[in-house]
Amino acid sequence: MGDRQVLRAVKVQQDIIGARQAGRDLARAAGFGMVDQTRIATAISELVRNALVYAGGGVCLISVETEERSATIRVVVSDQGPGIPDIDKAIEPGHSGGRGLGLGLSAVRNLMGCLSIESRPGRTEVTTSMTRRR
Ligand SMILES: Nc1ncnc2c1ncn2[C@@H]1O[C@H](COP(=O)(O)OP(=O)(O)OP(=O)(O)O)[C@@H](O)[C@H]1O
Ligand SMILES: [Mg+2]
Repeated sequence: MGDRQVLRAVKVQQDIIGARQAGRDLARAAGFGMVDQTRIATAISELVRNALVYAGGGVCLISVETEERSATIRVVVSDQGPGIPDIDKAIEPGHSGGRGLGLGLSAVRNLMGCLSIESRPGRTEVTTSMTRRR
Protein backbone atom coordinates (compact mmCIF):
# COMPACT_ATOMS: atom_id res chain seq x y z
CA MET A 1 0.00 0.00 0.00
CA GLY A 2 1.41 3.47 0.77
CA ASP A 3 5.21 3.62 0.79
CA ARG A 4 7.25 6.66 1.69
CA GLN A 5 10.90 7.40 2.13
CA VAL A 6 13.18 10.25 3.07
CA LEU A 7 16.87 10.54 2.33
CA ARG A 8 18.98 12.92 4.42
CA ALA A 9 22.61 13.85 4.07
CA VAL A 10 24.32 14.29 7.42
CA LYS A 11 27.22 16.71 7.37
CA VAL A 12 26.82 19.03 10.35
CA GLN A 13 25.41 18.86 13.88
CA GLN A 14 22.17 20.50 12.77
CA ASP A 15 21.48 17.61 10.39
CA ILE A 16 21.05 15.32 13.41
CA ILE A 17 18.02 17.32 14.46
CA GLY A 18 16.67 17.32 10.90
CA ALA A 19 17.01 13.54 10.53
CA ARG A 20 15.50 12.96 13.96
CA GLN A 21 12.49 15.14 13.09
CA ALA A 22 12.05 13.51 9.68
CA GLY A 23 11.94 10.12 11.40
CA ARG A 24 9.42 11.27 13.93
CA ASP A 25 7.21 12.74 11.19
CA LEU A 26 7.31 9.57 9.10
CA ALA A 27 6.62 7.41 12.16
CA ARG A 28 3.64 9.54 13.15
CA ALA A 29 2.28 9.47 9.58
CA ALA A 30 2.61 5.67 9.64
CA GLY A 31 0.50 5.48 12.78
CA PHE A 32 3.19 4.77 15.39
CA GLY A 33 2.27 6.06 18.84
CA MET A 34 4.11 8.76 20.76
CA VAL A 35 6.36 6.37 22.64
CA ASP A 36 7.46 4.57 19.49
CA GLN A 37 7.94 7.88 17.67
CA THR A 38 10.35 8.89 20.40
CA ARG A 39 12.16 5.54 20.28
CA ILE A 40 12.59 5.87 16.52
CA ALA A 41 13.70 9.50 16.72
CA THR A 42 16.23 8.65 19.43
CA ALA A 43 17.61 5.70 17.48
CA ILE A 44 18.03 7.88 14.41
CA SER A 45 19.89 10.57 16.31
CA GLU A 46 22.29 8.03 17.85
CA LEU A 47 23.11 6.43 14.49
CA VAL A 48 23.42 9.71 12.66
CA ARG A 49 25.60 11.13 15.42
CA ASN A 50 27.94 8.15 15.10
CA ALA A 51 28.22 8.72 11.35
CA LEU A 52 29.07 12.36 12.00
CA VAL A 53 31.55 11.73 14.83
CA TYR A 54 33.36 8.66 13.51
CA ALA A 55 33.09 9.14 9.75
CA GLY A 56 32.71 12.90 9.33
CA GLY A 57 29.22 12.47 7.92
CA GLY A 58 26.97 10.07 6.11
CA VAL A 59 23.53 9.44 4.75
CA CYS A 60 20.31 8.51 6.52
CA LEU A 61 17.53 6.73 4.66
CA ILE A 62 14.21 6.36 6.45
CA SER A 63 11.48 4.37 4.75
CA VAL A 64 8.01 3.21 5.61
CA GLU A 65 6.27 0.20 4.16
CA THR A 66 2.59 -0.01 4.89
CA GLU A 67 0.66 -3.20 4.48
CA GLU A 68 -2.89 -4.11 5.23
CA ARG A 69 -2.21 -5.20 8.80
CA SER A 70 1.17 -3.68 9.59
CA ALA A 71 3.53 -0.81 9.03
CA THR A 72 7.31 -1.05 9.15
CA ILE A 73 9.70 1.85 9.49
CA ARG A 74 13.29 1.14 8.49
CA VAL A 75 16.33 3.30 9.13
CA VAL A 76 19.59 2.81 7.28
CA VAL A 77 22.52 5.04 8.17
CA SER A 78 25.60 4.63 6.02
CA ASP A 79 28.97 6.30 5.86
CA GLN A 80 32.30 6.03 4.11
CA GLY A 81 34.45 6.30 7.21
CA PRO A 82 37.06 3.96 8.70
CA GLY A 83 34.59 1.23 9.65
CA ILE A 84 33.96 -0.59 12.93
CA PRO A 85 36.73 -3.12 13.55
CA ASP A 86 34.90 -5.26 16.13
CA ILE A 87 31.14 -5.02 15.69
CA ASP A 88 30.20 -7.33 18.60
CA LYS A 89 32.26 -5.22 20.97
CA ALA A 90 30.89 -1.96 19.56
CA ILE A 91 27.33 -3.08 20.36
CA GLU A 92 28.22 -4.01 23.95
CA PRO A 93 27.03 -1.33 26.34
CA GLY A 94 29.89 0.68 27.78
CA HIS A 95 32.31 -0.08 24.99
CA SER A 96 33.48 3.07 23.27
CA GLY A 97 36.21 3.66 20.75
CA GLY A 98 37.15 6.52 23.02
CA ARG A 99 34.92 9.50 22.45
CA GLY A 100 31.63 8.62 24.12
CA LEU A 101 29.95 6.56 26.81
CA GLY A 102 29.57 3.62 24.47
CA LEU A 103 25.82 3.45 24.94
CA GLY A 104 24.49 4.56 21.56
CA LEU A 105 24.38 1.29 19.63
CA SER A 106 23.11 -0.80 22.54
CA ALA A 107 20.42 1.82 23.18
CA VAL A 108 19.33 1.60 19.55
CA ARG A 109 19.10 -2.17 19.80
CA ASN A 110 17.08 -1.95 23.01
CA LEU A 111 14.76 0.78 21.76
CA MET A 112 14.06 -0.78 18.37
CA GLY A 113 14.43 -4.47 19.18
CA CYS A 114 16.84 -5.05 16.31
CA LEU A 115 20.08 -3.74 14.92
CA SER A 116 22.26 -4.97 12.11
CA ILE A 117 25.66 -3.66 11.14
CA GLU A 118 27.78 -4.25 8.08
CA SER A 119 31.15 -2.59 8.18
CA ARG A 120 34.52 -2.57 6.49
CA PRO A 121 37.02 0.22 5.96
CA GLY A 122 35.36 2.78 3.69
CA ARG A 123 31.81 1.55 4.16
CA THR A 124 29.60 1.15 7.22
CA GLU A 125 25.88 0.48 7.05
CA VAL A 126 23.75 0.30 10.18
CA THR A 127 20.14 -0.81 9.86
CA THR A 128 17.28 -0.92 12.33
CA SER A 129 13.53 -1.18 11.98
CA MET A 130 10.27 -1.35 13.87
CA THR A 131 6.97 -2.92 12.87
CA ARG A 132 3.56 -2.10 14.24
CA ARG A 133 0.51 -4.24 13.76
CA ARG A 134 -3.08 -3.13 13.79
N1 LIG B 1 29.73 4.79 11.95
C1 LIG B 1 30.76 4.37 12.68
N2 LIG B 1 32.00 4.30 12.14
C2 LIG B 1 33.06 3.88 12.86
N3 LIG B 1 32.98 3.48 14.14
C3 LIG B 1 31.79 3.53 14.74
C4 LIG B 1 30.61 3.97 14.05
N4 LIG B 1 29.56 3.88 14.90
C5 LIG B 1 30.06 3.40 16.05
N5 LIG B 1 31.40 3.19 15.97
C6 LIG B 1 32.28 2.63 17.02
O1 LIG B 1 31.48 1.89 17.92
C7 LIG B 1 31.64 2.39 19.25
C8 LIG B 1 30.34 2.28 20.02
O2 LIG B 1 29.37 3.19 19.48
P1 LIG B 1 28.21 3.73 20.43
O3 LIG B 1 27.38 4.68 19.66
O4 LIG B 1 27.56 2.55 21.05
O5 LIG B 1 28.99 4.47 21.58
P2 LIG B 1 29.79 5.86 21.55
O6 LIG B 1 29.49 6.59 20.26
O7 LIG B 1 31.22 5.54 21.83
O8 LIG B 1 29.20 6.64 22.79
P3 LIG B 1 27.73 7.27 22.93
O9 LIG B 1 26.96 6.93 21.68
O10 LIG B 1 27.16 6.63 24.16
O11 LIG B 1 27.97 8.72 23.06
C9 LIG B 1 32.12 3.82 19.06
O12 LIG B 1 32.86 4.26 20.17
C10 LIG B 1 32.99 3.70 17.81
O13 LIG B 1 34.27 3.22 18.16
MG1 LIG C 1 27.46 6.86 19.68
